[in-house]
Amino acid sequence: MNSLCVLGLGYIGLPTASIFATKGRRVLGVDISPAVVEIINSGRIHIQEPDLDVLVRAAVQSGNLKAATKPLPAEVFILAVPTPFIVTPDGTRTPDLSFVEAATRSIAPVVAADNLIILESTSPVGTTERVKGWLEDELRKLGRPAAGLLYAHCPERILPGQMLKELVSNDRICGGLTAEASTRARDLYATFCAAQIFLTDARTAELAKLTENAFRDVNIAFANELSLVCDKLGVNVWELIRLANRHPRVKILQPGPGVGGHCIAVDPWFIVDAAPQEARLMRMAREVNDSKPRHVVAQVLAAARAGSVVACLGLAFKANVDDLRESPAVEIITHLAEAGLKVIAVEPHIQTLPASLEGRVELASLELALDRADVVVLLVDHRAFASLTLAQLAGKKLIDTRGAIR
Ligand SMILES: NC(=O)c1ccc[n+]([C@@H]2O[C@H](COP(=O)([O-])OP(=O)(O)OC[C@H]3O[C@@H](n4cnc5c(N)ncnc54)[C@H](O)[C@@H]3O)[C@@H](O)[C@H]2O)c1
Repeated sequence: MNSLCVLGLGYIGLPTASIFATKGRRVLGVDISPAVVEIINSGRIHIQEPDLDVLVRAAVQSGNLKAATKPLPAEVFILAVPTPFIVTPDGTRTPDLSFVEAATRSIAPVVAADNLIILESTSPVGTTERVKGWLEDELRKLGRPAAGLLYAHCPERILPGQMLKELVSNDRICGGLTAEASTRARDLYATFCAAQIFLTDARTAELAKLTENAFRDVNIAFANELSLVCDKLGVNVWELIRLANRHPRVKILQPGPGVGGHCIAVDPWFIVDAAPQEARLMRMAREVNDSKPRHVVAQVLAAARAGSVVACLGLAFKANVDDLRESPAVEIITHLAEAGLKVIAVEPHIQTLPASLEGRVELASLELALDRADVVVLLVDHRAFASLTLAQLAGKKLIDTRGAIR
């Protein structure tokens, strides 16, 4: 299994392709974006992740990693393309598998018997079977044989900001459509994974990944709901949680402005979509977390006066990353701008505002924003804001959604 083709060169595909390449595998990274392909072939990166630039440069310079817009023959194909959801007119969230389907169909001209096809994208239960179905359908259309192909789901758990470390140190699950596919996938990931690799079937692997994120979401929803209860009852939620957590079997998470990102805010919907009658708690948790940004907006509007300048610290969906996908901070800032407030955003991890905020919000340095603000809203606990103190904010109204400013 020396040659790989990794489809999707984003937060998951690029580190994965690069680490295989630095371990001596020949890797073709495929992305439909010519700009991404060009950047990677020049040994640079298009996303922010600590040390990823060094890894990609090493992979490209070794000659083992090349990028292209079309797949070529390989022994292993890894699909690491997006799996967002679609919101239907009645508000239901359903998985959007169009990227996985397109990537699967795109490999049909180049796959051959004995190839292993690995779905890494976080996917609803049954997707690996659908990948097999799509590929067989495409092969039939091309008049090519479909026999002898192996399929597995190997979900990724790495955390943005710590991806390179976790790629090596996290336990993995390999769930094949057959036992042979599971063991072949395990042998492949053992190239760089120093932790345990567990074998199962594809459906269990798919649900395991969704379960991990649904578990996190439900626990965060508990903390967020507590913050609403505390606001109503005039109790300091941070102190409350600190005290409750002194119980030996209680471990409440921290509340925040909502839940964002490509994973926790998305994946539980794949379970709710598949089992709507059964997954009642998971749906409720999603609703609680999705409602939190509106609560923060109401807090800011209550603190502001006409003409107030509001400094919003952080746009990313979590601390110390540049990823704005599904970010509650972006949602909150959008609503504040729509409410007619003068909003200054501070986000040290980006150079330009996302298109949705361009022209409506100003992007400024922390110093400039604090200098002009009447109201300060801490939305993301980036390291860059860690030294902020209450004394520095004297005379301003503070809404600290992270409980980070002492
Ligand atoms: N980002 C994370 O922290 C994380 C963690 C665990 C799992 N995941 C899962 O991994 C998958 C990928 O997520 P990501 O964050 O890397 O996404 P991403 O948006 O960063 O990257 C996806 C890339 O795929 C490319 N692409 C789309 N269609 C393609 C096709 N047909 N062929 C080739 N390339 C194509 C896009 O241009 C993009 O560059 C998702 O299912 C996600 O849920 C993400």
